[in-house]
Amino acid sequence: MGLSKAALTFFSLLQLSACQVDYSQYVNPLIGSSGPFEGQAFGGGDIFVGGALPFGVAKVGIDTAEANLSEATLNGGYTPKGKVTAISMMHESGTGGSPKYGIIPQMPLTTIKHPVNLLDNRTYWQERVGDDTAQVGYFKTKFESGVTVELSGSRHAGIMQYSYPSGKQYVLVDVSHYLPDGLGGYSDQYYIGGEIHVESNRSQYTGYGTWIGGWNEGAPYTVYFCGEFEQAPDEAQTFRGRNTDPIRGFHTFSDQPIAQAILGNVSEASGPLNDRVGALFTWNGDSGSTVRSRVGISFISSEKACMFKNTEIPSWNLNTTVSAAVKEWNQDVFSKIKVPTDDSANRTNLVLLYSSLYFMHLMPSDRSGENPLWESSEPSWDDFYTAWDIFRCTVSLYHILQPVYYESMIRGLIDIWRFEGYMPDGRSGNYNGLVQGGSNADNILADAYVKGLRGAINWTDGYAAMKKDAEVLPYNTFSPNDETSSVKEGRGALFDWIPLGYVSADRTYRPVSRTVEYALNDFALSQVAKGEAPGDVQKYLKRSAGWQLIWAHNATSIDTSPKFTGFLAPKNADGRFNITDYNPALCGGCEWSDISYEATPFEYSFTIPHDLETLIQFMGGTASFERRLDYIFQPNTSQQNLGANGAGITTIMNIGNEPDFATPYHYNYINKQYKSVMRGRALANEFFHDADYGVPGNSDAGALNSWLIWQMLGMYPIVTQPVYLIESPWFNDINITVGANKTLRVTANGLGQDSYYVQSVKINGKDWNKNWFEHDDVMANGGTIEFNLGNKQTKWETGDVPPSPGHMVLPTSSNGYLNGTSK
Ligand SMILES: *[C@@H]1O[C@H](CO)[C@@H](O)[C@H](O)[C@H]1NC(C)=O
Ligand SMILES: *[C@@H]1O[C@H](CO)[C@@H](O)[C@H](O)[C@H]1NC(C)=O
Ligand SMILES: *[C@@H]1O[C@H](CO)[C@@H](O)[C@H](O)[C@H]1NC(C)=O
Ligand SMILES: *[C@@H]1O[C@H](CO)[C@@H](O)[C@H](O)[C@H]1NC(C)=O
Ligand SMILES: *[C@@H]1O[C@H](CO)[C@@H](O)[C@H](O)[C@H]1NC(C)=O
Ligand SMILES: *[C@@H]1O[C@H](CO)[C@@H](O)[C@H](O)[C@H]1NC(C)=O
Ligand SMILES: *[C@@H]1O[C@H](CO)[C@@H](O)[C@H](O)[C@H]1NC(C)=O
Ligand SMILES: *[C@@H]1O[C@H](CO)[C@@H](O)[C@H](O)[C@H]1NC(C)=O
Ligand SMILES: *[C@@H]1O[C@H](CO)[C@@H](O)[C@H](O)[C@H]1NC(C)=O
Ligand SMILES: *[C@@H]1O[C@H](CO)[C@@H](O)[C@H](O)[C@H]1NC(C)=O
Ligand SMILES: *[C@@H]1O[C@H](CO)[C@@H](O)[C@H](O)[C@H]1NC(C)=O
Ligand SMILES: *[C@@H]1O[C@H](CO)[C@@H](O)[C@H](O)[C@H]1NC(C)=O
Repeated sequence: MGLSKAALTFFSLLQLSACQVDYSQYVNPLIGSSGPFEGQAFGGGDIFVGGALPFGVAKVGIDTAEANLSEATLNGGYTPKGKVTAISMMHESGTGGSPKYGIIPQMPLTTIKHPVNLLDNRTYWQERVGDDTAQVGYFKTKFESGVTVELSGSRHAGIMQYSYPSGKQYVLVDVSHYLPDGLGGYSDQYYIGGEIHVESNRSQYTGYGTWIGGWNEGAPYTVYFCGEFEQAPDEAQTFRGRNTDPIRGFHTFSDQPIAQAILGNVSEASGPLNDRVGALFTWNGDSGSTVRSRVGISFISSEKACMFKNTEIPSWNLNTTVSAAVKEWNQDVFSKIKVPTDDSANRTNLVLLYSSLYFMHLMPSDRSGENPLWESSEPSWDDFYTAWDIFRCTVSLYHILQPVYYESMIRGLIDIWRFEGYMPDGRSGNYNGLVQGGSNADNILADAYVKGLRGAINWTDGYAAMKKDAEVLPYNTFSPNDETSSVKEGRGALFDWIPLGYVSADRTYRPVSRTVEYALNDFALSQVAKGEAPGDVQKYLKRSAGWQLIWAHNATSIDTSPKFTGFLAPKNADGRFNITDYNPALCGGCEWSDISYEATPFEYSFTIPHDLETLIQFMGGTASFERRLDYIFQPNTSQQNLGANGAGITTIMNIGNEPDFATPYHYNYINKQYKSVMRGRALANEFFHDADYGVPGNSDAGALNSWLIWQMLGMYPIVTQPVYLIESPWFNDINITVGANKTLRVTANGLGQDSYYVQSVKINGKDWNKNWFEHDDVMANGGTIEFNLGNKQTKWETGDVPPSPGHMVLPTSSNGYLNGTSK
């Protein structure tokens, strides 16, 4: 579904003073709404579409059901052609796995006559007609029933406007609604109870619902609501019915058909059988009319939900909320990166830049003041979905663009450790999980620390939280995903990592990817230890070299030309590699129980950001490293089918998934920066578009979008180091607001369609001969980077290659193997 032309101009008439630009006009909120198959969400971005604020709690949008639920990706609620089952208040954006949220709904209906059963969404769900309209803070769609839905959102509330054709007007509130999973597995979420109460004047209703499960295998969480209609309905009735969804461990009626809703009360509660509850509101006006509603949500109480509704959305005019959202997005997000928007600007590039900024600010959620689990004066954050996705290059953008939010977010992470014992890798619905690899909050904290973020962060506690990850084995969650170790939090394979120095292939799963991630996690500890616990620095540095213990120096690639020797490989706990018939370009399915997660050992063999020096040496030196890098960009080299995680990608290099994010830029480490520029541009041009299928796979809470932003800015951050690689910008003038109120100005002289290779660079007015710079050079206090670009591929850099601060080579044992010696 395309963005209609009307949508592009609809809100561009907003009142802005002469010097301000309405950057929101360049946001296409539908980028990522579709996958490679036209009109289907499968393999797409799984994005949320609707009304939301930066890091807001409410994400107000439609929930849909696709025809083939087993191929459906409903995680953000929106699919291009799915039938609408509700408009609901909470969503994730960009996530894979099983859906979470899609809760606190309303559904406008034009009839409740048979066969409509209010407890059976398939009897009232709606096809859409025409194109949807999506803009920052605004969404509009039309149902086959003739109802037009418009909506917007504030931080904890939403406003909906339903325009009905002639006939009566109904609004259904099915508290038991949530986004289902087509597969019906262990990671399904379920509604397990709630209450609803209609006030005596019929125009306001309050209550709560409780849900469990979802992708992160979460504990029950409760969300309170407070809904109100502008005009009191003529009739308001609640209903209740047996729950027939098959929920493990709860009372249901799951072998029975869906119950019929019986209307008639003003209050309903689920009771001990987890009954479904809801309400129906009816207006008898028969000439067609508009119903407006505001709904507030809270994790604390329905009173608080009412308060949010009343204070955040004081007006029944939808436009007021839309304008407020546009203003906040412009001020707090888009204007942090200013590029020329005059007639000479390339509109596509403006759309890619500002849409990417939009998507990377939808998650996590700032739930400060809304923590139901413990009393604390610290900020509260949720919906890290997941650190595994955002640690690589998203948080480093938060660092420079959103220092206030970012400091708060880190305090929130540490507070979770303080009260629950571990920081999360994933967290949603106030529950830690799932951990895909390492304990990557460690990387986030270290990245902030080495770049000097202090503020009100208690770094004594921050380091203690990291040390918990590094030293204390979390209890086993026995998840069907991985019954060998915890997937909830911490590092489930510490039982190997601490005694052996690597994660073994015979005692647990994902040995290759978890070894690589634990190594970086321990490097992260060593960097924070420098300031917080100097006695620990050497210990964690040494552990950060653990990846070398699973480097099989004589493992060779199979079916590649040329052949490459030396790869990460599965190694058993007795110290022996299991590399008979080993093909590093295969991973099984790159799933939970495979040797590596969501990327092959071939790819993971490049992901040692803290010690490229040793890596290059292990791969046989710079020439052989370069040949191997060149190879992974050749088409039709991928041997592993990655399914939706690598849709349409035939190279070993997979930009659709996070592990490879930094790999295209590795040429900087051999002083051939022009090749990094070539690879980065080629990937961006091939896989990122101003189109529904505009990101290569799940946007992963904006992780993919943030990769593109760095590419467009002409630099790339090296996580856990205060270091940025120099690439090549897409705009001739960029003003980036860094650290709240300083400016980094990036200019590109000579930039053109085929003219983007660096000829020379000046930083802060001085000639620069290295292809990297440090945080303090331009990010801490602002500064300038002046690029001279041309169409000639030039080896312009003569200075030192980027640093390898974790550099060390573990001793080789007599049999030619590295054995675990880290203790
Ligand atoms: C429709 O409702 C049924 C019964 O609660 C539920 O099992 C199913 O997942 C819902 N389908 C959608 C698409 O919401
Ligand atoms: C739904 O998708 C699955 C998985 O691709 C496929 O096996 C099945 O045949 C599809 N069902 C229908 C009705 O299209
Ligand atoms: C209905 O009652 C609620 C709660 O008592 C109140 O906040 C709201 O303003 C009332 N609405 C109307 C239209 O009277
Ligand atoms: C109203 O609620 C009462 C108490 O839960 C219940 O006995 C009665 O059946 C309900 N009436 C209808 C019409 O659902
Ligand atoms: C909402 O804003 C649009 C664009 O500025 C305008 O055309 C429309 O009339 C406004 N609607 C209301 C109800 O103010
Ligand atoms: C960047 O800032 C400089 C100095 O204020 C200004 O001259 C230039 O026009 C700005 N460029 C953009 C794209 O905003
Ligand atoms: C705008 O930039 C895109 C790359 O993002 C390029 O494909 C396109 O040709 C450019 N358009 C114009 C008019 O230069
Ligand atoms: C950090 O928190 C600990 C308790 O968790 C406290 O003892 C210490 O004083 C705090 N440090 C600072 C600088 O506030
Ligand atoms: C790899 O090297 C080791 C030690 O030198 C040797 O035992 C082993 O057979 C070699 N494996 C292969 C596949 O060449
Ligand atoms: C590796 O070290 C372990 C424990 O120190 C020892 O039992 C094992 O024999 C060693 N394996 C090899 C291949 O050297
Ligand atoms: C080696 O790996 C293969 C494939 O994963 C497995 O079937 C086999 O049992 C392993 N052998 C040993 C000795 O661990
Ligand atoms: C700049 O931002 C810092 C950090 O938020 C603040 O302390 C300082 O007062 C600000 N300076 C100005 C001139 O706004």
